[in-house]
Order: sequence, then C-alpha cells, then structure tokens
Amino acid sequence: MGTPMQARDMSSAGATDASMLRPMSATDLDRVLAVEVQAYGFPWSRGNFIDSLAAGYTAELLEQANGTLLGYYLALPGVGEMHLLNLTVAPAFQGRGLAHRLMDRLEARARELGLTSLWLEVRASNARARALYGRRGFAEVGVRRDYYPAPGSRREDAVVMSRTLDDTHRDEPADADADADADADGAVRERHRCGVQEDAHGAR
Ligand SMILES: CC(C)(COP(=O)(O)OP(=O)(O)OC[C@H]1O[C@@H](n2cnc3c(N)ncnc32)[C@H](O)[C@@H]1OP(=O)(O)O)[C@@H](O)C(=O)NCCC(=O)NCCS
Repeated sequence: MGTPMQARDMSSAGATDASMLRPMSATDLDRVLAVEVQAYGFPWSRGNFIDSLAAGYTAELLEQANGTLLGYYLALPGVGEMHLLNLTVAPAFQGRGLAHRLMDRLEARARELGLTSLWLEVRASNARARALYGRRGFAEVGVRRDYYPAPGSRREDAVVMSRTLDDTHRDEPADADADADADADGAVRERHRCGVQEDAHGAR
C-alpha cells in the first residue's frame, strides 16, 4: 500500500479528524464505487477502475483515520503529460477544500514524475468543476462535441482543459491556445475522461 502521506485536514467534518492520502488499490473499490454512484449520474464501473489500476495509472484516495472515504483521483501519466481521468469528493464532504487537497497531490505527483503539463476533460455543464480547474490555472483549450452520455439518451460536450506545471502559482492560467479545436488538432485523446464517456471500453 505504500507509505501514506499523513496530513491534518482542519476543514473536513470533525475539524480534528486526521485524514491521509494513500494509493488506491482493488481492495478499496467497494468504498470507491459507493462514492462514485453518489457523485455521478453516469458513474464509472468497477471494471473501469480495475482496468485503470491494472494498467498502473496513478490513483490515490483521501480518507479519514477511521476509514471514511473522502475522495479520490485517478490519472494517466503519459509522455510529458498527466491526464486526470477522475476527480471525486464524496458528496457529504464537498465544499470543504478537499478537491484542492487532491489536486495538490496530483500536481505534486506529476512533478515527481518529471511531467510538465496536466490535461483533463469536464462536462460543459459542470460549472463547479470548471471553476475549480480555472482557479488552479487550467485553461479551456477546446471542446469535444457530444462526448458524454446525458439523461434522455442525449449527449453532452466535453470541455478540454490543460495547464503547464512550469510555474508554482495555482491561479495563473496555462499558456494555451484558447481557440484550439481539440477534435481538429488531435490534442484530445479517448483516454481524457474526467467523468464518464463512451470509448473503446464501452459506456462510462
Ligand atoms: C467538483 C468537486 C471535485 C469539487 O470538490 P470540493 O471538495 O467540493 O471542492 P472544494 O471544496 O475544494 O472547492 C473547490 C472550489 O469550488 C467552489 N465551490 C464550492 N461549492 C461550490 C458551488 N456550489 N458552486 C460553485 N463553486 C463552488 C469553492 O469555493 C472552491 O473555490 P476556490 O478555488 O475559490 O476555493 C466535487 O464537487 C465533486 O466531486 N463533484 C462530483 C464529481 C465531479 O464532478 N468531479 C469532477 C469531474 S471533471
């Protein structure tokens, strides 16, 4: 399981509860899936998580000392880039800064690996997540039309966001071409799937 990074989270429920980040493993998936189905209308399946863990993607979770799962992220390290595939805070613990804890760790991990940029996709309607990423220096660099499933057999666009890691200011926008069309220039790949999409592995 590795050595957990111990930290004290003063903003989570029970201000004195210790919380820690540690790698996610297959034995965590019952709890992860319980949060996943609460947090998303179109959650990842167990198979999506198993495939990602088996492939060696970076996956860590944040939990309280008593084992309560607070949130998690899962990302794909690539050549020079880290692709955030899933960032989730348990609904009961949202709005307390925990997404920033997870994003801090994601960025630190990417830097440890010598990666220089972060990429993600987010539902166009997910204003909260888009605002969070914008505050963390991500720029919106493209749109992928009808990327995600939506209620009523409709589809929803994905907004593609990226930031560079050659700075230390989380509010500074990434130097990206905001007019880029990600579909046209090929910058978007099937594996960018923060949230749920359909890809070669089936509906997500
Ligand atoms: C999006 C999500 C990860 C944010 O997690 P969180 O722990 O609640 O976020 P935080 O408390 O760290 O707050 C992040 C920012 O959102 C802001 N925020 C909080 N509640 C908000 C709301 N109701 N509407 C808009 N912004 C809000 C906070 O003020 C904070 O902004 P700041 O950077 O200025 O401090 C979380 O809501 C979540 O898991 N949602 C469901 C899954 C999801 O959509 N994941 C992202 C997929 S790409």
